[in-house]
Amino acid sequence: MADIQTTHAAAPAVIRRSDYLPPDWLVPDIALDFDLDPRATRVQARLSITRNGVHDRPLRLDGEGLVPLAVKVDGRLLAPEEWALDAGTLIIPLSGGAHNVETSVELAPEGNSKLMGLYASGGLLCTQCEAEGFRRITFFPDRPDVLSRYDVRLTGDKTRYPILLANGDPVDHGDLEGGRHWARWVDPFPKPCYLFALVAGDLACNRDRFVTMSGREVTLGIWVKDADLPRTAHAMKALKDSMAWDERVYGREYDLDVFNIVAVADFNFGAMENKGLNIFNSRYILADPATATDVDYDGVEGVVAHEYFHNWSGNRVTCRDWFQLSLKEGFTVFRDQNFSADMGSHAVKRIEDVRLLRAAQFQEDAGPLAHPIRPESYMEISNFYTATIYNKGAEIIRMMALMLGAERFRAGSDLYFDRHDGEAATCEDFVRAMEEGGGTDLTQFRRWYEQAGTPRVRAMLHHDAAAQSVELVLEQSIPPTPGQPDKQPMAIPVRTALFDPDTDGHHGDQLLMLTQSRQSFVFEGFAAPPILSINRGFSAPVIMETNSSQDDLAFLSAHDDDPFARYEAMQQLMVNILVGQVAGQAIDEQAVVAAVCNSVSDPSLDPAFVAEVVRLPSEAYLGDQMRLVDPDAIHAARDGLQQRIGAELEPLWRDIHARTKADGFSLSSAAKGARKLRNVALLYIAASGAQDGDAIAFAQFNEADNMTERQAALAILASRSSSERDAALAQFYDRYRDDALTLDKWFQTQAFALHPDTVDIVAALGRHPDFTLANPNRVRSLFGAFAGNQWAFHHGSGQGYTLVADCIIALDKLNPQTAARLVPPLGRWKRFDAGRAGMMRAQLARILAEPGLSRDVTEQAGKSLD
Ligand code: TRP
Ligand code: ZN
Repeated sequence: MADIQTTHAAAPAVIRRSDYLPPDWLVPDIALDFDLDPRATRVQARLSITRNGVHDRPLRLDGEGLVPLAVKVDGRLLAPEEWALDAGTLIIPLSGGAHNVETSVELAPEGNSKLMGLYASGGLLCTQCEAEGFRRITFFPDRPDVLSRYDVRLTGDKTRYPILLANGDPVDHGDLEGGRHWARWVDPFPKPCYLFALVAGDLACNRDRFVTMSGREVTLGIWVKDADLPRTAHAMKALKDSMAWDERVYGREYDLDVFNIVAVADFNFGAMENKGLNIFNSRYILADPATATDVDYDGVEGVVAHEYFHNWSGNRVTCRDWFQLSLKEGFTVFRDQNFSADMGSHAVKRIEDVRLLRAAQFQEDAGPLAHPIRPESYMEISNFYTATIYNKGAEIIRMMALMLGAERFRAGSDLYFDRHDGEAATCEDFVRAMEEGGGTDLTQFRRWYEQAGTPRVRAMLHHDAAAQSVELVLEQSIPPTPGQPDKQPMAIPVRTALFDPDTDGHHGDQLLMLTQSRQSFVFEGFAAPPILSINRGFSAPVIMETNSSQDDLAFLSAHDDDPFARYEAMQQLMVNILVGQVAGQAIDEQAVVAAVCNSVSDPSLDPAFVAEVVRLPSEAYLGDQMRLVDPDAIHAARDGLQQRIGAELEPLWRDIHARTKADGFSLSSAAKGARKLRNVALLYIAASGAQDGDAIAFAQFNEADNMTERQAALAILASRSSSERDAALAQFYDRYRDDALTLDKWFQTQAFALHPDTVDIVAALGRHPDFTLANPNRVRSLFGAFAGNQWAFHHGSGQGYTLVADCIIALDKLNPQTAARLVPPLGRWKRFDAGRAGMMRAQLARILAEPGLSRDVTEQAGKSLD
């Protein structure tokens, strides 16, 4: 594709939320005609347009890299001087209120390495339009508040592209001369262009059906390469479960006669919710026991649900502008989290979600790229598909659901969907629907949409023996973030319980509303000092600081009836020891060894939960607890504690490892939980220093009948130095070298490894013949994973920074969106010593000095240097 916008000036334009204006022209209908060819695809578009309001502004149609071959208005071919092209935008002066505008362009999908717009992937042609990819396909007002009915005709070679798919329902198809054929798809639901999609290729279908709650039959299709058909069963089950769940929990029914999903190998993100034609990164569709871990299976289930749920939260009710992105993403993540919890374990799902929030979102909120869930400005919207928009956004919805209770929250969501069906809405519309439908006032709560930064809440408990009462003082502070030096107090729902250490019970779970900077809550009837359990269920996305002793934490880790709080107490116990050790204090490790022993010996606990509880916090999480991160000291301390827990409880770990060996594979919760605990046991056996650690891990690697156990054994071995390590990596490569998704694990496992040579290993893997910048999954598996490996990435030599910067610079020329997502780890320099900080900044400066740098990377690297 002739790309006339690959180079940008040093400072890309800033788009501001406050500048929003309604569209000048609407497009109620669009007819698209594609003549498909990998090198030269013809796209003809016929737009019916109407003037919106009273104005005399020309029609402006966004385009990126497009050359108009013909422009017609009401059937008349315009002379070249009757239109203009300004930085890609087609401008046509028009009088009157309504017209038909036709344009024709030619695309070269095979040369489209950005994977935005129409592109080729493994012999398929497919599209990705969110956020602003449609302008790379045809001239159009590429903004989400222009909703149109689509009528799409696809023509292509019948051998090369036997399957022709687009949004909506198939209405007609036929054969043409010269081995060609065509298909017509009509989508009756008006939609913004970011939801447009087409797929053409040689695909096989896993077909099924779903009968909706009103009795309509929907044909379901999951389209993959023929050889992948056996790997689609889990995705199909997830789809049907999601459809039933959205009916049961939100009263939302599917609305078209067909629902198609296509898996593609080259994809910038997880998946895309195009109306009636979801397109997926194949890693979130394909799963079988031999190649997918339990984490992969859960990923398939969660992402299938996420995209399906968008049909209501995103498609039927869409976003007015991209500043409202969290309206659909935060709400939809909240919905998929609850779905997955209902399908499995609520306790474990909450722990996993909070761990992800802390690892990705808290880091973002504490750095130079911090932004509110509804940002005020951006340069490149692709950079705002962030953990803040998605995961903090979900937490904001979760807090509303908690404050309202299930019934009132449902009343609010019913009102939201009914009131805004068919519209492009705002976050404010959602909050207002919650207020009216749920009968509440969210005035102060709205600050969660406005203020960035993770609030810190300090909780201090004072016991008054004479008055037999306790006072809980809560203080909140929100750190300054870019553009927001001063913050107002938030409305923070804090679930709290006070435990009686003698009876192990508590005096009721209470929802305290912290709305001021400092607030005091008094509880009567406490002869003895109680133990505080706070932010239960992680009721608010805050950093909680308490004055709990190690004894209090040990008590909660054994007795708290809120599973998240119990997990949290154990984590805090471990954090205190490890952070203390890094600071040079010797804190008794025995309390943790005893607490771990307690948890693994308690038969009443779910093994999956135990596995979460007894794992040490990650090196990155420990780093987040310190003002200045010392990667080497953190690694040494964590390694030491892991060895101690391994060695002291070695017989227990061996016993667990032996008795959790399954006879045959199952995806039941019990079987998954057993595998999870078995892998933790293996980790501790290996960490214990036992002579046979490598042999036991290698045996599990060899004997496993599933990828969960094989990959875990490989990961443990990859962090060690032994002949078993080398043998396992070589065998894994030989076995899976032709299976891209599984080979990704080989790259990723080595990039994640806590091995002293990881930097050199990753550098070598970057030159491996199977490494390619053309596939985002492969890039993320190697360099994305590596940048998340604190000890390796922050190697004192600075070589890790250079490696990632080299990758960003090279990838930016092909795929700026994916390149930009590798920048944030370099932007955390303020948290490191002067030596590391200087080297990180030097790499950011080197990136910024690249000629022709994309807007995507310019924004991320520029902000990261501040
Ligand atoms: N809307 C998609 C989702 O959350 C996200 C997405 C898919 C995306 N592909 C993209 C975002 C490309 C930016 C660019 O499900
Ligand atoms: Zn989404």
